[in-house]
Amino acid sequence: MKKRILSGMRPTGKLHLGHLMGALNNWVKLQDEYLCFYMIADWHALMSEYEDPKNLKESCYEMVRDFVACGLDPEKSVIFVQSHVPEHLELAMIFSDITPLAWVERVPTYKEQLREVKGRDLTTYGFLGYPVLQAADIAVYRANAVPVGVDQVPHLELTREIVRRFNGLYKTGLFPEPDAILTKTSKLLGLDNRKMSKSYNNFILLSDTPDAIRKKVSVMITDAERIKLRDRGHPDICNVFSYYAGFAKPDHAPKVRGWCEGASKGCTECKKALAEIVIESLEPIRARRAKMSDDEVEDIIRKGAKKARDAASETMREVKKLINFLQ
Ligand code: TRP
Ligand code: SF4
Repeated sequence: MKKRILSGMRPTGKLHLGHLMGALNNWVKLQDEYLCFYMIADWHALMSEYEDPKNLKESCYEMVRDFVACGLDPEKSVIFVQSHVPEHLELAMIFSDITPLAWVERVPTYKEQLREVKGRDLTTYGFLGYPVLQAADIAVYRANAVPVGVDQVPHLELTREIVRRFNGLYKTGLFPEPDAILTKTSKLLGLDNRKMSKSYNNFILLSDTPDAIRKKVSVMITDAERIKLRDRGHPDICNVFSYYAGFAKPDHAPKVRGWCEGASKGCTECKKALAEIVIESLEPIRARRAKMSDDEVEDIIRKGAKKARDAASETMREVKKLINFLQ
């Protein structure tokens, strides 16, 4: 039996290069070695978007398109929408009963988000339980591993504590303690050198047209000390250069270093060449996306929900036996 993986993303709009380099490429690679459950976490999205959820449905559709276009294979992996599997909530309820309040209150992301997220009131009952639901997402598939970025490590640590407590209380080995598969933090920053993020509007979407990509790349910040063509540049501090390292063929980056340090080509030209490379490497994704009909998307969602529910309800039967629920 293959080991299992679960991971998820909140549907907050179309995906960008940061998602691709920071997570999806890695998810694609894991598909052969593991049985993978890839989830669109709409309940988690609602926790912050509850005042204005108008884009949720469309974001779920777009996320399925992006997932499949990037190479997640619905024949190999289970691609599903979280709220189509109510078993997550059942397990989250049971986990709530065994999770001491202090454990959730001390999760660092909780305090941080309360402090930093502006324009939304996150002082809700649901939001405090964010990592408990996340623990249930993982445990309901008895996942052995979770590919995540470093920012999610505290949540995974809490998941391990909760399942350990469950296993201890009910003298069972039902839940494995999941390991983090850390995705190396993507070196790809946004167009303005900050983290690529929807809220900074500094991203390149996987679904952007070639012209949109050209426009976006042309405004990327370069080595600030290179003002004239004759100034020698410093590729190692230039974000444009790190994109070359991420996208271009291996022999390309040395060439760019040469023209940058040798001051033989200017930044405008350098960015023009980069835009074409990004366009070319996104071409298969764009093509796959364009080929996907609404029916195909619906079909993936429907079949994913069925497979996910089958796996989740099997776990819940065992859980209910252990806690002596009348079934
Ligand atoms: N919290 C994750 C994020 O914001 C999304 C998520 C929800 C998740 N449930 C999960 C990730 C379970 C991994 C496993 O990105
Ligand atoms: Fe950056 Fe290219 Fe300009 Fe060098 S030439 S500073 S790598 S944009």
